[in-house]
Amino acid sequence: MKTKITQSPTIAARFIQHGELVAFPTETVYGLGANIFDEDAVRKVFEAKGRPSDNPLIAHICDLSQMESLISEITPHAQKLIERFFPGPLTLVLHKNPGVPAIATAGLDTIGVRMPGHPVAHQFLRACQVPVVAPSANLSGRPSPTTWQDVKADLDGRIGCILKGDQTEVGLESTVVDCTGSSPIVLRAGAVTLEQLQEIIPQTRMADHEATDKPRSPGLKYRHYSPSADVTVCTYPQFTVSLDDEAYIGLDAPPQPASFKKILICANVEEYARSLFHFFRECDQAGVRIIYCQAVDKAGLGRALMDRIERAATK
Ligand code: TXA
Ligand code: MG
Repeated sequence: MKTKITQSPTIAARFIQHGELVAFPTETVYGLGANIFDEDAVRKVFEAKGRPSDNPLIAHICDLSQMESLISEITPHAQKLIERFFPGPLTLVLHKNPGVPAIATAGLDTIGVRMPGHPVAHQFLRACQVPVVAPSANLSGRPSPTTWQDVKADLDGRIGCILKGDQTEVGLESTVVDCTGSSPIVLRAGAVTLEQLQEIIPQTRMADHEATDKPRSPGLKYRHYSPSADVTVCTYPQFTVSLDDEAYIGLDAPPQPASFKKILICANVEEYARSLFHFFRECDQAGVRIIYCQAVDKAGLGRALMDRIERAATK
């Protein structure tokens, strides 16, 4: 298959209407979209990514009126979070409308819904005229793509179209919040932080993936975000020697930065989050063997950043 690369949301949307897959930019990472009501198209998403079929997809909308076809009811908590955070990097898990094909939600009776805040994503979703399921547009197990070139590296020839945009602003996937229970539970940390959610609904808590909440978020059991290189978490970078097949990313410069094969010093946690996945990919291309990632405080965006780094460090 020849993959069309375009900057036109309307050209890209035609692929969706013809049952093909389109990678498109959002403010978090690039997504790999298909018409949610076209079962064959949704099946192609799993095939193109090599994604296990028990990992549910997120539905993307451009307008709240599209919610009706996706969910059975908006709970009061969800309503509050929608008012405060839509459009944006937040996915809400709610009970699904029976009209949504089971393949999209991996057979679950719940569905994740998100309204991206990115203008190109918005134009594209509007032109599609249907809600679009979209996982991150990477091959399963690889770091999520934050540039269209990263999408191309993984999916060229496997999908109909890539809608070109800039490097994504956030760089980490959306915050996923389960709103089906008595209090909201954060299944995946993201740029909408626990602290911000608690300002709206104080009893919001992080999922305890070790214990009872484990089956709630099927995707989290898979290895994610991983470069081929080994990832090692470090605190302050007091390296005395470094080898030429090692890399470092963090907020503080190590004393002898020169001998690293790749090094990225970020001005703040936002820049660190935005750069992490692309840095992982660059390290793989350069044949780096070990990537040292400096730990940051697990608060605010730092919680999401450390979640991704720790996952990447788990073999
Ligand atoms: O920022 C994002 O969320 C990006 C962009 C493209 O929107 N999408 C994304 O999708 O990261 P994906 O498929 O790579 O990650 C979705 C995560 C998975 O961990 C999945 O298990 C979880 O959300 N998820 C989806 N639907 C769910 C549901 N009904 N219940 C619990 N977890 C769900
Ligand atoms: Mg993903």
